[in-house]
Amino acid sequence: MDVKTVLEAAIKDLKSVNSQQDLYEVRVSYLGKKGKITELLKSLKDLSLPEKKSIGAELNLARERLENFYQEKINKIKVDEINQKLINESIDITFPPPSTFIAKAHPISQTFDEVISIFGSMGYEVAEGPDIETDFYNFSALNISEDHPAREMQDTFYINSFDEKNNPYVLRTHTSPVQIRTMLSSKPPIKIIAPGRTYRCDSDTTHSPMFHQVEGLFINEFTTMADLKGTLIEFCKQFFNVQELKVRFRPSYFPFTEPSAEMDIAYEIINDRLILGSGDKWLEILGCGMVNPIVLENCKIDSSKFQGFAFGMGLDRITMLKHGLNDIRSFFNGNLNWISKHGFGLGDIK
Ligand code: PHE
Repeated sequence: MDVKTVLEAAIKDLKSVNSQQDLYEVRVSYLGKKGKITELLKSLKDLSLPEKKSIGAELNLARERLENFYQEKINKIKVDEINQKLINESIDITFPPPSTFIAKAHPISQTFDEVISIFGSMGYEVAEGPDIETDFYNFSALNISEDHPAREMQDTFYINSFDEKNNPYVLRTHTSPVQIRTMLSSKPPIKIIAPGRTYRCDSDTTHSPMFHQVEGLFINEFTTMADLKGTLIEFCKQFFNVQELKVRFRPSYFPFTEPSAEMDIAYEIINDRLILGSGDKWLEILGCGMVNPIVLENCKIDSSKFQGFAFGMGLDRITMLKHGLNDIRSFFNGNLNWISKHGFGLGDIK
């Protein structure tokens, strides 16, 4: 029995094929249940003890070498296949768009502009923060303690990296960390909104792993819950273009506000069309409340002197509601036809 010859033949056979399927078949013909090497291993039982030992060892070695060779080759074939696919499917991004295509702003960009304009007219300034936050800004400073279920509730994307104080980096799960950054870097009165991208491990027709929120924060010596309600109702009337808007505030809980509420807008469906602001069904659009004194103190603001409100609104949600869109994923797949239909040209009002 010549193990060396079998091994050489096997390697030659493996070298001569180039698809995953052929490779697999060659492997089976040597290492499978009825394969040549397997047969040789079976026939060991008829040999003398010293022969068993030496040929057995040789066979095991051959099997191992063959297996390694097979793995290397299959990995290479897989990589080649992916590369080939990338070449075949590549899109020439330098190719000019069709001459009839008129550039349009994405509905989310339009919402950003409208939100900034409406709150801007109420005296809010735009603040910003990074998408990659430390868990200090995203959680701890907002009174979301180490073991608080909110950290799981929010389905956080953790990044495998830490700042100099060993705080883990996360993709911000809400725009609320901008509250902290603003309060730490400026003194009251504070009146800001912070629109931006936010991230959670979540994906279906109404949830996207990357989505958008606008945060609002208003701190001075006397702002109340009534101001909060008035502000949000006024915003919705202007944004949705409805004068009579039925809304409700439901008690809720957020560690960073006390008391907390969620705001719902009434809607009904008439002739397959969604009518906002009336009816007896409810859609939640935001979370809000009076800023928790603990959060003010975390930001070195004297909570015996200052108070105020905060809110966080889902921008994708209000865009879908306003324009009757029902799949959040259509916002993010870069389809030009979709943009042509739902995007905004100069001066477009929808
Ligand atoms: N950050 C909260 C969320 O994402 C919303 C919120 C913001 C609630 C500000 C209260 C105050 O769900």
